[in-house]
Amino acid sequence: MERLDKLLTSTGRWSRREVRQLVKEGRVLVDGIPATGPEQKLDPALSRVLVDGEEPDIREFTYVMLHKPPGILSATEDSRQKTVLDLLPPELRRRGLFPVGRLDKDSEGLLLLTNDGALAHRLLSPKRHVDKVYYIRTDRPMGLEDAAAFAAGITLADGTACLPARLELLGDGREALVTLHEGKFHQIKRMTASRKAAVCQLKRLSMGTLVLDETLRPGEFRLLTREEVSKIGGKP
Ligand code: URA
Repeated sequence: MERLDKLLTSTGRWSRREVRQLVKEGRVLVDGIPATGPEQKLDPALSRVLVDGEEPDIREFTYVMLHKPPGILSATEDSRQKTVLDLLPPELRRRGLFPVGRLDKDSEGLLLLTNDGALAHRLLSPKRHVDKVYYIRTDRPMGLEDAAAFAAGITLADGTACLPARLELLGDGREALVTLHEGKFHQIKRMTASRKAAVCQLKRLSMGTLVLDETLRPGEFRLLTREEVSKIGGKP
Protein backbone atom coordinates (compact mmCIF):
# COMPACT_ATOMS: atom_id res chain seq x y z
CA MET A 1 0.00 0.00 0.00
CA GLU A 2 1.27 3.44 -0.93
CA ARG A 3 0.15 6.97 -0.12
CA LEU A 4 -1.81 8.64 -2.90
CA ASP A 5 0.38 11.76 -2.86
CA LYS A 6 3.55 9.66 -3.11
CA LEU A 7 2.18 7.79 -6.11
CA LEU A 8 1.03 10.92 -7.90
CA THR A 9 4.21 12.91 -7.27
CA SER A 10 6.27 9.95 -8.51
CA THR A 11 4.89 10.64 -12.00
CA GLY A 12 6.79 13.93 -11.94
CA ARG A 13 3.69 15.77 -13.14
CA TRP A 14 2.63 17.32 -9.84
CA SER A 15 4.28 18.53 -6.67
CA ARG A 16 2.92 17.43 -3.27
CA ARG A 17 1.23 20.80 -2.88
CA GLU A 18 -0.45 20.44 -6.27
CA VAL A 19 -1.65 16.94 -5.38
CA ARG A 20 -3.17 18.30 -2.16
CA GLN A 21 -5.01 20.92 -4.19
CA LEU A 22 -6.21 18.42 -6.80
CA VAL A 23 -7.57 16.16 -4.06
CA LYS A 24 -9.25 19.10 -2.30
CA GLU A 25 -10.95 20.09 -5.52
CA GLY A 26 -12.27 16.54 -5.93
CA ARG A 27 -10.37 16.01 -9.18
CA VAL A 28 -8.75 12.75 -8.04
CA LEU A 29 -10.83 9.59 -8.09
CA VAL A 30 -9.82 6.26 -6.56
CA ASP A 31 -11.92 3.46 -7.96
CA GLY A 32 -14.53 5.99 -9.02
CA ILE A 33 -14.79 7.70 -5.62
CA PRO A 34 -13.26 11.12 -4.86
CA ALA A 35 -10.04 10.64 -2.88
CA THR A 36 -10.45 11.35 0.81
CA GLY A 37 -7.04 12.98 1.26
CA PRO A 38 -3.47 12.97 -0.01
CA GLU A 39 -2.54 10.46 2.68
CA GLN A 40 -5.09 7.90 1.48
CA LYS A 41 -3.42 4.52 1.03
CA LEU A 42 -3.97 2.27 -1.93
CA ASP A 43 -2.43 -0.58 -3.84
CA PRO A 44 -1.58 0.79 -7.30
CA ALA A 45 -1.81 -2.72 -8.77
CA LEU A 46 -5.41 -3.10 -7.58
CA SER A 47 -6.91 0.39 -7.55
CA ARG A 48 -7.56 2.70 -10.47
CA VAL A 49 -6.65 6.34 -10.00
CA LEU A 50 -7.99 9.05 -12.29
CA VAL A 51 -6.98 12.71 -12.32
CA ASP A 52 -9.38 14.91 -14.26
CA GLY A 53 -10.72 11.73 -15.84
CA GLU A 54 -7.31 10.57 -17.07
CA GLU A 55 -5.19 7.73 -15.78
CA PRO A 56 -1.70 8.98 -14.85
CA ASP A 57 1.25 6.68 -15.36
CA ILE A 58 1.86 5.68 -11.76
CA ARG A 59 4.44 2.99 -12.08
CA GLU A 60 6.38 2.46 -8.90
CA PHE A 61 9.75 3.01 -10.59
CA THR A 62 11.07 4.80 -13.64
CA TYR A 63 13.72 3.35 -15.96
CA VAL A 64 15.35 5.57 -18.57
CA MET A 65 17.82 4.58 -21.29
CA LEU A 66 20.12 7.47 -22.13
CA HIS A 67 22.62 7.61 -24.97
CA LYS A 68 25.23 9.49 -22.99
CA PRO A 69 27.28 11.86 -25.11
CA PRO A 70 30.95 12.49 -24.33
CA GLY A 71 31.65 15.54 -22.16
CA ILE A 72 28.84 15.04 -19.63
CA LEU A 73 29.27 13.79 -16.06
CA SER A 74 27.57 10.56 -14.91
CA ALA A 75 26.30 12.16 -11.72
CA THR A 76 23.04 13.55 -10.39
CA GLU A 77 24.36 17.05 -9.71
CA ASP A 78 27.49 19.09 -9.94
CA SER A 79 28.01 22.74 -9.08
CA ARG A 80 30.00 23.51 -12.21
CA GLN A 81 29.59 20.82 -14.83
CA LYS A 82 26.63 19.51 -16.79
CA THR A 83 25.40 16.10 -15.63
CA VAL A 84 23.34 13.39 -17.31
CA LEU A 85 20.32 14.54 -15.26
CA ASP A 86 20.52 17.90 -17.05
CA LEU A 87 19.69 16.06 -20.29
CA LEU A 88 16.27 15.02 -18.94
CA PRO A 89 13.10 17.14 -18.82
CA PRO A 90 11.95 18.46 -15.41
CA GLU A 91 9.16 15.87 -15.25
CA LEU A 92 11.75 13.07 -15.20
CA ARG A 93 14.31 14.98 -13.15
CA ARG A 94 11.82 15.25 -10.30
CA ARG A 95 11.61 11.48 -9.95
CA GLY A 96 14.87 11.01 -8.06
CA LEU A 97 16.66 9.15 -10.85
CA PHE A 98 20.34 8.30 -10.64
CA PRO A 99 22.73 6.60 -13.06
CA VAL A 100 23.32 2.87 -12.55
CA GLY A 101 27.10 2.76 -12.65
CA ARG A 102 29.23 5.43 -14.19
CA LEU A 103 30.69 6.14 -17.56
CA ASP A 104 33.71 8.43 -17.56
CA LYS A 105 33.08 12.01 -18.63
CA ASP A 106 34.66 11.39 -22.05
CA SER A 107 32.90 8.02 -22.50
CA GLU A 108 29.59 7.59 -24.29
CA GLY A 109 26.83 5.10 -24.88
CA LEU A 110 24.31 3.21 -22.79
CA LEU A 111 23.46 4.65 -19.40
CA LEU A 112 20.53 3.39 -17.37
CA LEU A 113 18.90 5.90 -15.02
CA THR A 114 16.41 4.74 -12.45
CA ASN A 115 14.99 5.33 -8.98
CA ASP A 116 14.85 1.58 -8.32
CA GLY A 117 17.68 1.28 -5.80
CA ALA A 118 17.31 -2.47 -5.35
CA LEU A 119 17.71 -3.09 -9.07
CA ALA A 120 20.73 -0.77 -9.27
CA HIS A 121 22.29 -2.65 -6.40
CA ARG A 122 21.70 -5.99 -8.12
CA LEU A 123 23.07 -4.81 -11.48
CA LEU A 124 26.22 -3.40 -9.89
CA SER A 125 26.87 -6.18 -7.40
CA PRO A 126 30.26 -7.74 -8.23
CA LYS A 127 28.82 -11.13 -7.25
CA ARG A 128 26.24 -11.02 -10.04
CA HIS A 129 28.79 -10.52 -12.85
CA VAL A 130 26.43 -8.60 -15.11
CA ASP A 131 28.21 -8.41 -18.49
CA LYS A 132 28.89 -4.99 -19.95
CA VAL A 133 29.99 -4.68 -23.57
CA TYR A 134 31.97 -1.68 -24.84
CA TYR A 135 33.20 -0.62 -28.25
CA ILE A 136 36.69 0.85 -28.08
CA ARG A 137 39.10 2.54 -30.45
CA THR A 138 42.75 2.52 -29.52
CA ASP A 139 45.86 4.44 -30.60
CA ARG A 140 47.53 1.26 -31.83
CA PRO A 141 46.13 -1.99 -33.16
CA MET A 142 45.48 -4.48 -30.36
CA GLY A 143 46.49 -8.08 -31.11
CA LEU A 144 45.93 -11.65 -30.06
CA GLU A 145 48.46 -11.30 -27.23
CA ASP A 146 46.41 -8.46 -25.80
CA ALA A 147 43.26 -10.56 -26.12
CA ALA A 148 45.00 -13.42 -24.30
CA ALA A 149 46.11 -11.05 -21.52
CA PHE A 150 42.55 -9.73 -21.12
CA ALA A 151 41.26 -13.32 -21.01
CA ALA A 152 43.81 -14.30 -18.36
CA GLY A 153 42.83 -11.32 -16.16
CA ILE A 154 44.89 -8.12 -16.23
CA THR A 155 46.69 -6.86 -13.14
CA LEU A 156 46.57 -3.05 -13.16
CA ALA A 157 49.58 -0.81 -12.47
CA ASP A 158 48.47 -0.38 -8.82
CA GLY A 159 48.28 -4.14 -8.29
CA THR A 160 44.49 -4.45 -8.64
CA ALA A 161 43.57 -7.80 -10.19
CA CYS A 162 40.80 -7.71 -12.80
CA LEU A 163 38.52 -10.60 -13.63
CA PRO A 164 39.08 -12.26 -17.00
CA ALA A 165 37.60 -10.09 -19.76
CA ARG A 166 36.95 -10.59 -23.45
CA LEU A 167 38.74 -8.52 -26.10
CA GLU A 168 37.27 -9.15 -29.53
CA LEU A 169 39.37 -7.51 -32.24
CA LEU A 170 37.65 -5.76 -35.11
CA GLY A 171 39.24 -4.85 -38.45
CA ASP A 172 42.95 -4.10 -38.06
CA GLY A 173 42.68 -4.24 -34.24
CA ARG A 174 42.42 -0.48 -33.72
CA GLU A 175 38.78 -1.16 -32.90
CA ALA A 176 37.52 -3.86 -30.55
CA LEU A 177 34.68 -5.01 -28.35
CA VAL A 178 35.45 -5.47 -24.68
CA THR A 179 33.24 -7.48 -22.34
CA LEU A 180 33.64 -6.82 -18.62
CA HIS A 181 31.96 -8.67 -15.77
CA GLU A 182 32.73 -5.96 -13.21
CA GLY A 183 33.15 -2.19 -13.12
CA LYS A 184 36.29 -0.78 -11.62
CA PHE A 185 37.24 2.90 -11.92
CA HIS A 186 38.52 3.68 -15.47
CA GLN A 187 38.78 -0.08 -15.89
CA ILE A 188 39.09 -0.40 -19.65
CA LYS A 189 41.44 2.56 -19.95
CA ARG A 190 43.66 1.13 -17.23
CA MET A 191 43.55 -2.41 -18.63
CA THR A 192 44.46 -1.07 -22.06
CA ALA A 193 47.22 1.10 -20.59
CA SER A 194 48.73 -1.99 -18.98
CA ARG A 195 49.10 -3.29 -22.56
CA LYS A 196 50.92 -0.06 -23.55
CA ALA A 197 48.02 1.26 -25.60
CA ALA A 198 45.57 4.13 -25.07
CA VAL A 199 41.81 4.29 -25.52
CA CYS A 200 40.74 7.05 -27.95
CA GLN A 201 37.00 6.29 -27.87
CA LEU A 202 34.87 4.25 -25.50
CA LYS A 203 31.19 3.53 -25.98
CA ARG A 204 29.05 1.21 -23.86
CA LEU A 205 26.79 -0.93 -26.01
CA SER A 206 25.04 -3.12 -23.47
CA MET A 207 24.59 -3.97 -19.82
CA GLY A 208 23.20 -7.45 -19.15
CA THR A 209 20.18 -7.87 -21.40
CA LEU A 210 19.81 -4.13 -21.94
CA VAL A 211 21.15 -3.01 -25.33
CA LEU A 212 21.68 0.59 -26.45
CA ASP A 213 18.89 1.59 -28.80
CA GLU A 214 20.85 2.75 -31.84
CA THR A 215 17.98 5.00 -32.92
CA LEU A 216 18.84 7.21 -29.93
CA ARG A 217 21.34 9.86 -30.94
CA PRO A 218 23.91 11.03 -28.36
CA GLY A 219 22.02 13.03 -25.72
CA GLU A 220 18.68 11.37 -26.48
CA PHE A 221 16.79 9.10 -24.10
CA ARG A 222 13.66 7.00 -23.86
CA LEU A 223 11.82 5.04 -21.21
CA LEU A 224 12.56 1.33 -21.13
CA THR A 225 9.82 -0.88 -22.50
CA ARG A 226 8.05 -3.10 -19.99
CA GLU A 227 9.82 -6.08 -21.57
CA GLU A 228 13.25 -4.49 -21.11
CA VAL A 229 12.40 -3.68 -17.50
CA SER A 230 11.38 -7.21 -16.64
CA LYS A 231 14.35 -8.74 -18.47
CA ILE A 232 16.84 -6.72 -16.39
CA GLY A 233 14.95 -7.64 -13.24
CA GLY A 234 13.09 -4.37 -12.56
CA LYS A 235 9.41 -3.84 -11.75
CA PRO A 236 7.54 -3.13 -15.00
N1 URA B 1 36.04 1.69 -18.53
C1 URA B 1 36.59 2.92 -18.60
O1 URA B 1 37.82 3.07 -18.59
N2 URA B 1 35.78 3.97 -18.69
C2 URA B 1 34.43 3.87 -18.74
O2 URA B 1 33.74 4.89 -18.85
C3 URA B 1 33.87 2.59 -18.67
C4 URA B 1 34.70 1.50 -18.56
